[in-house]
Formats: sequence, C-alpha cells, structure tokens
Amino acid sequence: MSHPVLILGGTSEGYMLADRLVGVGRFRVISSLAGRTETPRLPAGEVRIGGFGGVEGLVGYLHQQGIRFVIDATHPFAAQMGWHAWSACQRASLPLLRLERPPWQPEPGDRWRQVTDWTEAIAYLRWLNAARVFLAIGRQELAHFTGLDDLWFLIRLVSLPDPLPPVRQAEWLLARGPFALDDERALLDRYRIDAIVCKNSGGEATAAKLIAARERGIPVVMLQRPERAPVPSVATVEAALAWLESVSANQGSAKTQQASPSSP
Ligand SMILES: NC(=O)c1ccc[n+]([C@@H]2O[C@H](COP(=O)([O-])OP(=O)(O)OC[C@H]3O[C@@H](n4cnc5c(N)ncnc54)[C@H](OP(=O)(O)O)[C@@H]3O)[C@@H](O)[C@H]2O)c1
Repeated sequence: MSHPVLILGGTSEGYMLADRLVGVGRFRVISSLAGRTETPRLPAGEVRIGGFGGVEGLVGYLHQQGIRFVIDATHPFAAQMGWHAWSACQRASLPLLRLERPPWQPEPGDRWRQVTDWTEAIAYLRWLNAARVFLAIGRQELAHFTGLDDLWFLIRLVSLPDPLPPVRQAEWLLARGPFALDDERALLDRYRIDAIVCKNSGGEATAAKLIAARERGIPVVMLQRPERAPVPSVATVEAALAWLESVSANQGSAKTQQASPSSP
C-alpha cells in the first residue's frame, strides 16, 4: 500500500528525505517547493511548485491528495510555512513532523552578538563602529541594509535580486556553498572584513566563515531563528524516517483493530 507523504521542502534535508523515502518504496512521496527559484533542482518522487494559498488552500490540498503524513522540512528562516502546516494538519487531523538542522552554537573565541531582528543587528554594527561588513543573509532581507551609506558591504548571494536593492557601497559576490575554510579565510582577509552579519541557518555548508571569523577575532552578528509552531521536531533525515515508520505502523494497527470483530 502506498501512503501519501507531503514534504514541505526547499532545503538539502528535504531533498535527502525525498530521496530516501522514494527508496523505501512504501510511500507516495510528494515534495512541495515554494517556487522562488526559476529552475529549481527537482527532488525524487512527485513535485508540486508554488504556494498553497494559505492554511485554507493547504487543507484543501491535503484532502484532495489524500495525504496521510506531513513533514515540514522548510528552511529554519522560512517563518510562515511551518505555522500554516501546523494549523492545516490540526484541522485535517494529520500527523506533522518538523525536520530542522540544529542551529550553530558559539564556541570559545567566538565574538558573536545574537540578535532577534535586523534593527538590533544594525544598532550593534554601529556600536562596533564597523566599516567593512560581510553580509551573508540571502537576498530576501537586503532591503533592511539600504540607507547605511557610510558602510561598505560584501554581499554574497546565490543569485542577484531583481531589482537590486540600492546599497550604495557594495561588492556583489555570486556563489553557492559549500564554502571551504581556506577560501573563507582568504575572503575575509582580501576584503578586510571587520564584521559579519548572518542568519543562524546551521549546517556544514556555510559554517566555515564562522571558524575563519573566530581565528581572526572578527565579530559576528547572528540573527536568531524565528519562533516555530509546537510540533515534534527531529534534526536528521534518519530520525524523520524512523518517525514515519512508527506513525504509519500505528495507523496500520489502528485500522486493523477497527476492522476486526469486537471481542465477546
Ligand atoms: N527564508 C530563508 O532564509 C530560506 C533559505 C533557503 C531556502 N528557503 C526555502 O524557500 C522557501 C520560501 O521561503 P520563505 O522564507 O519565503 O518561506 P515562508 O515565509 O515560511 O513562506 C511564505 C509563503 O511561501 C509559501 N511557501 C513556503 N514554503 C513553501 C513550500 N515548501 N511549498 C509551498 N509553498 C511554500 C507559502 O505560501 P502559501 O501561504 O500560499 O501556501 C508560505 O505562506 C521555503 O520552502 C524554504 O524552505 C528559505
């Protein structure tokens, strides 16, 4: 029997989970992508692209496709989709799991300032008297850094936003992780970076800049993750697979009990 599973994706964990689940063979695997990237890499299994139209739209989709399990593997900074999934799964009485890589933790020698929003981040840059700032925050939130005309920015992105936000003094660097430690060291030195601003995305691919910053005593302004819906959460694809095995086995045995004649 094939159990339809919806993976809310857009992360490397989402791709890995789809791959592994298709390999298991007992699930109909549907990955959902938001559609922000023009030519996204397609996950294994079935794929749907684009928003659902809020909670209402997602509830409709879950019913229409006969989804039995939902795994929210969206990015740690995708602030909204997880809440929509939580509301929709409550309404549809479906099990929901959050798959989220652990955040980075500061280590001895780090000069981190953990902030909850960009206003606090900019105030801290001012307090530091930073002049040459490495912005590694993705492209969606660059607008917060316009108008800081006395600062110079190195802005690293996977692709350029259209239109470009009016950051007056900036060098735009197009690159996709993983980034090697030696390259990150060279980057900080070459551009004489005196502060880094980034989001606590976690994971290996973009962590080397933090080590290079620690070695150089460069301060890091680290945006903390948004609050998440109260959903059971795991950190690895293995744990997500174990959860699916367990909930699908429970559903199976509940059905068997319902189907068997009641005892005298
Ligand atoms: N934010 C980041 O830093 C970041 C980084 C890397 C990758 N991503 C990926 O990019 C996507 C969009 O990020 P975001 O920050 O805009 O998310 P978001 O703020 O949580 O979501 C905004 C809206 O986009 C739609 N959406 C988001 N993820 C979706 C998915 N997997 N499938 C279908 N619709 C989705 C939903 O629209 P409807 O209300 O119409 O359903 C949602 O309400 C996510 O899938 C995320 O995993 C985000």
